Amino acid sequence: MCGIIGYLGKREKVQDSIIKGLKVLEYRGYDSSGVCYLKDDKIIINKSVGKIKDLENKYDFRNETSLAIGHTRWATHGEVNEINTHPHVSNNKRITLVHNGVINNYQEIKEFLIDKGYGFYSQTDSEVLANLIDFLLKDSMLEVLNKLKDILKGSYALLIIDKKEHNKLYFIKNLTPLLIGKGDAFNILISDVNAGSLYTNEFVSLDDHQYGYITQNNIYVYENNTQISYKVFVNNSKKDDIGLNGFPHYMIKEIYEQPSILGKICNTYINEYNQINNIDTQVINNIKNSDYIYIVACGTSYHAGLIGKYVIEKELHKGVDVLIASEFNYQNMVIKENSYFIFISQSGETYDVKVVLNQIKDKHHNLLLTNVVSSTLARECESCIDILAGPEIAVASTKAYSAQVAILLLIVYACLDKLSEYKKEIVNVCDSMQETLIRSHHLLALVKDNIIENEHCFFIGKGVGYYLSLEASLKMKEISYIHSEAFPSGELKHGTIALIDKNTPVIGVINSKDTMNNVRSNLEEVRSRKAKTITISMASLSQSDDEFIVNDVSDNMLALAFAPVFQLMAYYAALLRYKDIDKPRNLAKSVTVE
Ligand code: M6R
Repeated sequence: MCGIIGYLGKREKVQDSIIKGLKVLEYRGYDSSGVCYLKDDKIIINKSVGKIKDLENKYDFRNETSLAIGHTRWATHGEVNEINTHPHVSNNKRITLVHNGVINNYQEIKEFLIDKGYGFYSQTDSEVLANLIDFLLKDSMLEVLNKLKDILKGSYALLIIDKKEHNKLYFIKNLTPLLIGKGDAFNILISDVNAGSLYTNEFVSLDDHQYGYITQNNIYVYENNTQISYKVFVNNSKKDDIGLNGFPHYMIKEIYEQPSILGKICNTYINEYNQINNIDTQVINNIKNSDYIYIVACGTSYHAGLIGKYVIEKELHKGVDVLIASEFNYQNMVIKENSYFIFISQSGETYDVKVVLNQIKDKHHNLLLTNVVSSTLARECESCIDILAGPEIAVASTKAYSAQVAILLLIVYACLDKLSEYKKEIVNVCDSMQETLIRSHHLLALVKDNIIENEHCFFIGKGVGYYLSLEASLKMKEISYIHSEAFPSGELKHGTIALIDKNTPVIGVINSKDTMNNVRSNLEEVRSRKAKTITISMASLSQSDDEFIVNDVSDNMLALAFAPVFQLMAYYAALLRYKDIDKPRNLAKSVTVE
């Protein structure tokens, strides 16, 4: 989703102050970008539709500047064009701003401003903000910012330049991530700590309704008209973590990182006596003592939650509901007594998850599994476990999924006091994953021969095999743009089998003795309707004509062993179809709007 960056400090080339940050923010997903900078006391605005390289090709960014703001826009209000691209300026050109988020009452404000004589050129809610700030600005920008929280409904991180104050860069934040990065003779404002680590490792995270400004050497944060103190935290994720390290795409690099992440999870969270380490034991006790568990997440994180449900119910004999965060308020949910909430979010910034957390956090113990411990959700949840996947740059989540599943399993094994078994099973699953990675060329060939020429494909399985199919299907559609659906294998004949045509690829997951006969017979049903079936099976359950074999792992570890197979299939499908693998169209890495 949109990325935002602001720089104020020693003079640097615009390329270095802003463009390099925008490039790191690219992974969040966007369809246009823009930059505004100060040059000889003049405000220069450059915008372009498309990629940052299109922006760079269009303008000269070798000029030096001390003040600049930049934005990658993921369209919400108004189509993708240069007029709607940020930065936006007020009619009199005094205020220039970039905005992340959505202003729900912008139409009302716009009508009010039209009445006052303002004109509008874009379709965005953000241009309304530039004119609103200009309208409210009498003496002090800080007073305006304090008023905004009562006027604006919705989410916003705003960076604001007042043409009359070149030595200050103003900001305000609500429900959308924004951090301050503290540098040597410069400060930055940025929506993402990973992108910020290009500039500094010292950050200040901002809470909702906080506002203020940075100067070259200082940071001023306010709340309700009062200046407040702030805490600096150090983010040690290395700059190297966000390089490609020789891989052609982040997605494939991240797929290959999975075994080492599982090893890191064991080393970090299990001590030499096979006891839990670096996780508050109260978290494990609260889970053990709860009567019911709710797991709340979206997308791939939701699919990781489904695996958690399977293993928790089987091993801890505790009921689990896995909830899609955006549906929580529309289900007439009756939350059971003494429930424990587990939130899963790779980014820690997903808006829909935050909405649920805000509703339950005063009533129920809660925990977040996240990859970004400096994120908004991490700050707001009662407890937080770092999934240790390291920065995930590709929009399609791969290593974060495995890490989320591994942490859910770790919690279960810790509750059972069986962490030595966990370690052994993880070692085994890492071997299985490595074997899949070594044989990845078979998957490339399978995808080439059976999938890429089709516009549709189906994944089927039973039990965990169905949960795996859901994730496999999401991966396939989001990066290859092949329409894909996942079904419990027995469900196909209740309607969807009507879509099975000559050569439709149907991928079946054979992961358990209890279900394999059913899945095989469902595959037979579609084969007799001329579908192309691809059977992915565990070694001990395989037949000689199965298309890909996954080395055996224990039942609880199935998701970890099968995950790279489906991730690689999606990757190769996108590669062979020449798609933009790391930045699929219309998608964003952190979904910070409703
Ligand atoms: O950051 P989150 O885990 O909260 O994100 C949730 C989903 O947006 C995310 O998992 C999405 O489905 C993935 N990009 C899919 O690969």
